[in-house]
Amino acid sequence: MEQFHIKPVIYYGGGALSALEALAGRRVMVVTDAFLSQKSGLLEPLKRSLPGCEVALFDRVEPDPSLQLVAEGVRALEETAPEALVAFGGGSPMDCAKAMRYFSSRPQLPLWAVPTTAGTGSEVTSFAVLTDRDRGIKHPLTSEALLPQAAVLDASLLAGVPPAVTADTGLDVLTHAAEAYTARGAGVFSDALAEHAFALAWRALPAACGGDLAARERMLLASCLAGMAFDAAGLGVCHGLAHTLGGRVHLPHGRLNALLLPHVIRFNAECQDAARRYGRLAALCGLSGTARALASALVRLRESLGLPGRLGTPLDIPAAARAALEDPCTPSNPCPVSAGDLEALLKEVV
Ligand SMILES: NC(=O)c1ccc[n+]([C@@H]2O[C@H](COP(=O)([O-])OP(=O)(O)OC[C@H]3O[C@@H](n4cnc5c(N)ncnc54)[C@H](O)[C@@H]3O)[C@@H](O)[C@H]2O)c1
Ligand SMILES: [Fe+2]
Repeated sequence: MEQFHIKPVIYYGGGALSALEALAGRRVMVVTDAFLSQKSGLLEPLKRSLPGCEVALFDRVEPDPSLQLVAEGVRALEETAPEALVAFGGGSPMDCAKAMRYFSSRPQLPLWAVPTTAGTGSEVTSFAVLTDRDRGIKHPLTSEALLPQAAVLDASLLAGVPPAVTADTGLDVLTHAAEAYTARGAGVFSDALAEHAFALAWRALPAACGGDLAARERMLLASCLAGMAFDAAGLGVCHGLAHTLGGRVHLPHGRLNALLLPHVIRFNAECQDAARRYGRLAALCGLSGTARALASALVRLRESLGLPGRLGTPLDIPAAARAALEDPCTPSNPCPVSAGDLEALLKEVV
């Protein structure tokens, strides 16, 4: 028997931001980063969508939110006592807001997620990835209680995303779809979402990086579909390794996935069912239907977008492999993995 449910109400398309008017007149706390609140010019349209609201801002979020930052956010939330929380930004502000509510005394507070990157799908997932800076560990917290009530997908917010961020986050979308499609928990519903998300992102990403707004809207949709897919199916060693590397080297999460994914595909293709599934994704993208063709095409895509093929930083490989083995995403990988397998994968990218 399969079970599948989607919790957040999703508002998608031109003018979707106006859905926030449902919060009109309330005391609202917006969780975001300093670039988005002070330099992007996007805070004004957000505020216009919150008519009559008393808006408190928590804009201290940094990429890969830390436990300390979340604790600071919880204190701000308790002091402000808002009637609703709006997470406004990429995965970092969304995860921070989800965790702030989770650890506060008001876990039932309505949370609306408004993504401004097309990458993490965090607006529809029960994940919040937090970094323990002291221990150099990035930990995905998972709980149904992290799911937002609503997700607002408005591509006009993505018009100014720099090409490098579009590329990094776009590779995160492709990785979510590919890992969900082959994960142990994959089922008919997550398959449909993952197939569509992968093919959509594959076709839209180059134009999105070139600034095409219609392609950016397709990437935002693909990001959300891939988020729903992996929330149901799980991920795999690519994310297990990316979290481990992200805790140590602080490169953008999507860039780390871009580095790892072709190697992970070749590794997992040793398992027959995973190989068949990668082949199907390749065929959906107009490639010859093999795992190898998919891995090679992802390398070409990565190169064409100017993303690196090596980490370029020294790494304690055995320690990183042990940490990746403990990551909550690793057990969903289609093939069993050992610390030795993870060491071999890491050696390919260092
Ligand atoms: N919760 C989940 O399900 C999930 C899934 C995958 C990744 N993550 C986590 O999400 C985080 C990464 O999120 P991300 O990739 O979206 O990056 P991010 O939120 O860290 O943002 C990256 C950069 O893009 C900028 N930016 C955001 N929106 C912009 C816009 N509209 N215009 C111009 N610049 C903009 C930000 O200011 C920041 O400098 C990582 O911590 C990762 O581990 C979470
Ligand atoms: Fe991811």
